[in-house]
Amino acid sequence: MLFLLLFTHLLLALVGASSDALLSALQTTDDDCSSCLALLGAFQTVSLGSVDAFVAEFTSLCIGLGAADPDVCTGLIAREGPILAHDLNSINTTAGQTAERLCDALLGMCVSKAVNPFTVPLLKPAPKNPTVFSSRGRPTFRVVHLSDVHIDRFYTVGSEANCTKSICCRDFDDSPAVPTVPAGPNGNSHCDSTVNLADSMLAEVERLNPTFTIFTGDVVEGATWIVDQTEVTNDLAAFNAELAAKLTGPIFPSLGNHDSAPVNAFARTTTNTANNSQFVYDTQSAGWEQFIGPGPAAQVDHISGSYVAQVPGMKLRIIAVNTQLWYKQNFWLYDSDTPQPDPNGIIAFLAEALQATEDAGERAWVIGHIPLGKEDTLPDQSNYYDQVLQRYKNTIAGQFFGHSHKDQFEIAYSNYSEQIAANAVGVGLIGPALTPTSGNPAFKVYDIDPDTFEVMDSSVFFTNISDPSFQISPTWGRFYSARETYGPLVGLQPHEPLSPAFWHNLTDVFMTNDTAFQMFNTFLSRAGDVTPCAGDCVNTTICDMRAFRSENNCDVPATGFSLRRRAVSGGAHDSDECEGVGLAHILSQMVSSV
Ligand SMILES: *[C@@H]1O[C@H](CO)[C@@H](O)[C@H](O)[C@H]1NC(C)=O
Ligand SMILES: *[C@@H]1O[C@H](CO)[C@@H](O)[C@H](O)[C@H]1NC(C)=O
Ligand SMILES: *[C@@H]1O[C@H](CO)[C@@H](O)[C@H](O)[C@H]1NC(C)=O
Ligand SMILES: *[C@@H]1O[C@H](CO)[C@@H](O)[C@H](O)[C@H]1NC(C)=O
Ligand SMILES: *[C@@H]1O[C@H](CO)[C@@H](O)[C@H](O)[C@H]1NC(C)=O
Ligand SMILES: *[C@@H]1O[C@H](CO)[C@@H](O)[C@H](O)[C@H]1NC(C)=O
Ligand SMILES: *[C@@H]1O[C@H](CO)[C@@H](O)[C@H](O)[C@H]1NC(C)=O
Ligand SMILES: *[C@@H]1O[C@H](CO)[C@@H](O)[C@H](O)[C@H]1NC(C)=O
Repeated sequence: MLFLLLFTHLLLALVGASSDALLSALQTTDDDCSSCLALLGAFQTVSLGSVDAFVAEFTSLCIGLGAADPDVCTGLIAREGPILAHDLNSINTTAGQTAERLCDALLGMCVSKAVNPFTVPLLKPAPKNPTVFSSRGRPTFRVVHLSDVHIDRFYTVGSEANCTKSICCRDFDDSPAVPTVPAGPNGNSHCDSTVNLADSMLAEVERLNPTFTIFTGDVVEGATWIVDQTEVTNDLAAFNAELAAKLTGPIFPSLGNHDSAPVNAFARTTTNTANNSQFVYDTQSAGWEQFIGPGPAAQVDHISGSYVAQVPGMKLRIIAVNTQLWYKQNFWLYDSDTPQPDPNGIIAFLAEALQATEDAGERAWVIGHIPLGKEDTLPDQSNYYDQVLQRYKNTIAGQFFGHSHKDQFEIAYSNYSEQIAANAVGVGLIGPALTPTSGNPAFKVYDIDPDTFEVMDSSVFFTNISDPSFQISPTWGRFYSARETYGPLVGLQPHEPLSPAFWHNLTDVFMTNDTAFQMFNTFLSRAGDVTPCAGDCVNTTICDMRAFRSENNCDVPATGFSLRRRAVSGGAHDSDECEGVGLAHILSQMVSSV
């Protein structure tokens, strides 16, 4: 206690007396909702006075409390602090749902999975006799699914690979002169991808000669406290150029939460005309036109990065959605006390694109970055997306996401109270990451039926960063095939696709066969840096496989007080690494350190 008092005095001497109120609000923040609202109120008092003062005081406290490296505190709060100030200056922190949801996003307090009832407007009722898409047993075609490349163009060979920041292997201002662990030529598990690694993956993809490639987002590296609009623009353009130069087949890309500056920030156009993230949409509209054509590229510009494109020569359309408008860590979403059911109209766009696909007698794949079922998707928008899925389940032949960096899947049910194979109406397949920060670098390869556009097999390709040959030249190979590995466990017949019912039956196997579950757990990270999962973790993980809506998962968001415990809890439901170090991370550290 004496220490705490001395410490407090020292800190106040450092940051000035005006931070007194903020510090005491942090100190009195308890593990309950009302004290979080009080903390927001104290921050609001400062932000209403001046946004600059808010940034300055927040930064001093972050540094003084050792919540993160000083340069991380300074850079992150300079970038994201003004957005939080904008929120606080726009909402009622004493009462109201938006303040509570902000507490949920920032500190894991006031958590609620309750959904604001909203019926998504649909253009037409479901047809009485929906088109039947049946396989004629023709040979499959191949599709590659890339995700979360996180290429660090400032990666420096020989720099410190063991640092206290979220990514290392760079010449940071405070890097030691003599590194303890020098960064190798091709990558390190504490660092985002090297250009070499990305090039070697694209060469392997080209060797596989896919009919087309999908990319589910996150081009930009994880040094979130340094990344600015210039770097994002350059990174996006550079990766577009590499895709164009190295892959000959069609490419259908989508946007990730790191593909903006500041990280996760995609503003609502209705309330933030000056801060509408248009630079991202402009960059990708121009960069993607060569892949998706002029019509869809124009949509990217006008529908916040979303588009619908025809796959050449096929009755298949790719609908790319900007899932960041549904993302809990997008702090632009908290600036109104009135619920905003469909920020930037992405859900309406999805429903319209699916109606047009149905009218044409074709099928669609939905691609996007953040899968809908985890606790980091807002329960409202996750539920509204699910309404669209229920209506167009016959048209949607596949849904593909990334973000978690893990090899996962999430099942949608027509009745979430009765999770059985017969009720499984959709599945989201989640691609693993290239970045070595979450296991071995990997991508997925699908075998697709040319009549139904359903997935017949899903294989993971990977390169082993622990193998001595990796630093000389990464070699890629097939890790496993879902059909070969899981098919026999559920009695999958040769003509059957990897349907939602198949994935459901696999979760039943995981419930009773721990050997099979542990295999899945090893596959999550491609056998690199495996997090043990037993007991409650198994139940939570299986529960999450059965949740395409975030209201149905079993995740318990960590509060500021339990973040340290969260670090060891692990499992498939840890979303910390895909958020990167953001406001939520540092505010939680601040609360837990006072
Ligand atoms: C929004 O944009 C305006 C005009 O460019 C800028 O002055 C302001 O700082 C921005 N707000 C935030 C929160 O970034
Ligand atoms: C916030 O909401 C409370 C409860 O409805 C109300 O008493 C208070 O006046 C509101 N504050 C502001 C600034 O509108
Ligand atoms: C990395 O640094 C930490 C201290 O910051 C140290 O405990 C650890 O042993 C180092 N790891 C290696 C491989 O040098
Ligand atoms: C959903 O399942 C529950 C539990 O089996 C059942 O009580 C309920 O009637 C079902 N709802 C519908 C709409 O079928
Ligand atoms: C990766 O390489 C290491 C070192 O050679 C080896 O121990 C490990 O089994 C390999 N992992 C896989 C999945 O092949
Ligand atoms: C799933 O399991 C159910 C019940 O055992 C079975 O009827 C169904 O054929 C299975 N479906 C698939 C695709 O494996
Ligand atoms: C459990 O899974 C393992 C690994 O796939 C498999 O070898 C074994 O046959 C399964 N056991 C049963 C009882 O199905
Ligand atoms: C997992 O959940 C089932 C019921 O769904 C329960 O019977 C079992 O005890 C749970 N296991 C653990 C380890 O919590």
